Amino acid sequence: MHARAVAAATTVLLGAMVSSPTAEVLAAGGHERPLIVGHRGAAAYAPENTLASVDKAAALGFRWVENDVQRARDGELVVLHDDSLRRTTNVEQVFPGRAPWKVKDFTAAEISRLDAGSWFSPAYAGTRVPTLKQYLRRVEQRHEKLLLEVKNPELYPGVERQILKLLGNEGWLDRRHLTDRLIVQSFSADSVRTVHQLDPAVTTAFLGRPATADLRRFAGFADLINPSWTTLTPEYVSRVHAVPGPHGRPLRVFTWTVDDAPRARTVSGYGVDGIISDKPDVVRASLDAP
Ligand code: G3P
Ligand code: CA
Repeated sequence: MHARAVAAATTVLLGAMVSSPTAEVLAAGGHERPLIVGHRGAAAYAPENTLASVDKAAALGFRWVENDVQRARDGELVVLHDDSLRRTTNVEQVFPGRAPWKVKDFTAAEISRLDAGSWFSPAYAGTRVPTLKQYLRRVEQRHEKLLLEVKNPELYPGVERQILKLLGNEGWLDRRHLTDRLIVQSFSADSVRTVHQLDPAVTTAFLGRPATADLRRFAGFADLINPSWTTLTPEYVSRVHAVPGPHGRPLRVFTWTVDDAPRARTVSGYGVDGIISDKPDVVRASLDAP
């Protein structure tokens, strides 16, 4: 067996014996090439953050999808990227007097009336904004894995605890999910730290590019450092990999949002562990090419 594969198998085995973060991601050298994560589902091909986008990623053969979680006025967790409903729904037509149409100002029942597909294509007319519960169930049904982003947590006090409660209620905090199917990430270091403190068994990621001098501090609560490709260098990836994370394994790197073949090959050459893409099929083809 290839030495990297032996190391990976050993790490996965050990990982299964301890409180184990996502083994597939954290296994040292456990994959010959980066994992590919469908960004907001498969955002180039279906309306972002919808169940249709989960389905599209699955149909294309991808196991990992990324989403964005926020909170409606009545407390329901919903899957939306922007803090406003304007860009990805017809909220201005349905609720013309409710500017600036912030997610936090609408109940889940109101949001469920919106069309979240027509802006993308008439073929998706009538597509709805999913609740996180609906989204988790569809991801499970499709045998997919989830990179869940806590989006704009400063707007939603306590949202980390609420997300973890829902994940637990939906069976996403059992051993099977914790070892191989779930990563929680945020641009907010405070939010990532909170998730880690509330449930240290969850694999966590910080979105951004901390200074190398700060990596050890981030490694206290984040298993991955996920920078934009625009900020990445091979040296930085190596520096991240040199730091042990909160579960004793090297920090990993997923970069975003990489949608073209040359860039995918470039960041793969940097040694990243994951590539988050609106066009995961393009990334896959580029990495498959000789
Ligand atoms: O997962 C990385 C990426 O989603 C972060 O940026 O703005 O698309 O949520 P954004
Ligand atoms: Ca996101």
